[in-house]
Amino acid sequence: MKVMEVKDYQEMSHAAGKYIIDKVKAKPNITLGLATGGTPEGTYEYIINDYQENGTSYRKVTTFNLDEYIGLKESHPNGYRHYMDTKLFNHININISNTNIPNGDIQHFKEECLRYEQLIEAHGGIDLQILGIGSNGHIGFNEPGTKFGTKTHVVKLTDATREANARYFQKFEEVPEYAVTMGISSIMQSKEILLLVSGETKIEAMKQLLGGEVSESFPASILQLHPNVTIIADEKSLIEAKVPS
Ligand code: PGA
Repeated sequence: MKVMEVKDYQEMSHAAGKYIIDKVKAKPNITLGLATGGTPEGTYEYIINDYQENGTSYRKVTTFNLDEYIGLKESHPNGYRHYMDTKLFNHININISNTNIPNGDIQHFKEECLRYEQLIEAHGGIDLQILGIGSNGHIGFNEPGTKFGTKTHVVKLTDATREANARYFQKFEEVPEYAVTMGISSIMQSKEILLLVSGETKIEAMKQLLGGEVSESFPASILQLHPNVTIIADEKSLIEAKVPS
């Protein structure tokens, strides 16, 4: 894992935005894996600004999002389709039909998980997967204890994750209890991974990611075994971590 240490959230967002834009320019039909949450918002803003100023084209790009809540309508303001449309897709020239997010508003999840996994495969896999990390070490919605071999599946969210995400809802009880997520194995099959980390809520997670064992009790630790991971992390998040030189 390569670690790029940056000053703060803004620098992380700029570095990540630039990283992604360079990859899109080098391969205009790239398949990107995308993440939601607070961490990548600034990165998406950077990409939108660059699109407006420099016209980088996303016309041939395909995207797969990591996860989606179960039980929210597609148009729900806290659903990840709404997040992606409003924070990125509506502001660049991507073809919406090339943007994929698991469907959390259906009855038959087994079929949906299989469909999603097969769709990723049919596109030749993900070239560059953007990831955030939960303070409990989750990647996507793969909570501690998830088997490393999992493909896209349904998960029960931990209270820690629901509490971390409650800031987007009126109250904790409204945060869905279940989600569909790409599995650890689906994520590990990406050719390249870009992990974005910012802020003091991630200090413990970074300490464990960079200094701990590979263990299913800390899902992100599997990234140590991936051949092409870049971490862009700010000073605050790295304050207690030993950054490999
Ligand atoms: P955050 O979430 O970006 O809102 O901190 C990260 C994650 O849970 O993966």
